[in-house]
Amino acid sequence: MKDTVTEDTITEAVRQQYETYSYPPPIEDGEKFLKKWGPLTCDPRFAGIQLWPEGRPRQELRILCAGCGSSQAALIALNNPDCTVLGIDLSETSLAHSNRLRDRHGLANLELRQMSLLDVGELDRSFDLIICTGVLHHLPDPDAGLKALADVLDPSGSMAIMLYGKAGRAGVYLVQDILRRLGAGRNAEGVRIARELLKVVPSKHYLISPTGKLPHDLAHDAGIVDMLLHPQDRAYAVPEIMEFVEAAGLVFFGWKDNALYCADRYLGGEMLERVLALPAAEQWSVIDNLTALNDRHDFFVRKPHSARFLTRFDTDDFLSYVPHIRAGVRLAGDVNSLVLARPAPQGEVAIPISRAEALMLEQVDGKKRISEILSHAIFTGSEPEQRTSFARTVCERMWRSGHVLFSRSGP
Ligand SMILES: C[S@@+](CC[C@H](N)C(=O)[O-])C[C@H]1O[C@@H](n2cnc3c(N)ncnc32)[C@H](O)[C@@H]1O
Repeated sequence: MKDTVTEDTITEAVRQQYETYSYPPPIEDGEKFLKKWGPLTCDPRFAGIQLWPEGRPRQELRILCAGCGSSQAALIALNNPDCTVLGIDLSETSLAHSNRLRDRHGLANLELRQMSLLDVGELDRSFDLIICTGVLHHLPDPDAGLKALADVLDPSGSMAIMLYGKAGRAGVYLVQDILRRLGAGRNAEGVRIARELLKVVPSKHYLISPTGKLPHDLAHDAGIVDMLLHPQDRAYAVPEIMEFVEAAGLVFFGWKDNALYCADRYLGGEMLERVLALPAAEQWSVIDNLTALNDRHDFFVRKPHSARFLTRFDTDDFLSYVPHIRAGVRLAGDVNSLVLARPAPQGEVAIPISRAEALMLEQVDGKKRISEILSHAIFTGSEPEQRTSFARTVCERMWRSGHVLFSRSGP
């Protein structure tokens, strides 16, 4: 039986924390923010192909930002004026910051409510897109949270989730443990103690990045409390994410950026061959454990009904996909050693490609299907089977690295 008294106590501690230390640090001007940083990565205008490879269900999306914090719902509403956005959060302080952005930018499409995402079913509404980043891992029962969201997701809807990553946050939990022993609370004195401790963290500690830096969130009080003094926080390894999604009756629909789980990026020779022989989720798990760099996992989930739109290459259906080169990708190297490269979290992703592969990618325009690209004169000299096998290998590699995304042309 669940201990609801304990769960309520934890939820209250979480609420109080975000009343005092609103997160992320509030912003004054959403337009300036978007101009400087670009759209949030869960913004449907940015992540549309990944959310709905088959095409957006409707132009006027109904969006829920569950645990919207101080600005997320307002930024999404600002950047998507044709959509309606509901932001819900436990913290009145964070909602007040969001409300200021609503007033400043005249966001008639933004509605804000103080409530737990666990109660969202009571609204008797459904949503095309649910954004829930950095929230579920703070619930006493994250599974109940995901199920509550799944219940209000439209059958053709999509959800963008961010959960903490276990391997990349190992150092965070060591420091949290020290601060707990030192009696540091979620107040000014606790933050001061944390700052003193950070001064003596050795440069080889797991908290420090390979480039020798402390996580950037530790530059401000709310970030210190959120990362090091939180009353409720758990992190996930890749298999735990798969179980979490499945337990809610949902389908894992892909990472925001495959590069963070891409075997080709980190391995070669025998190791790469061995890892690529594993099912996809195991490959991701190996890379997550190997790099130990993922302190967060950003991914998409959908209802089982949408599983037919999963990107896959094990049948010839992929020939009807429309490839799209991700922003920032460029051809580099020289004629004898070409690479397709782009900046990504954890440094540049550079995947070697052959001249023939480069020629195929040159034909990618975000409109032509793979079958149409293969009918180009440069490929018609080879047998159809050879062409299909060639395209499968290229597309699969480019998809694994996240350099290429795929939409479906037909219904
Ligand atoms: C780390 S912040 C993330 C904010 C925002 N999603 C973002 O990514 O910028 C977590 C937010 O979740 C909210 N929260 C925590 N538990 C919640 C719950 N059960 N229902 C609704 N909001 C919750 C907190 O109040 C806080 O504002």
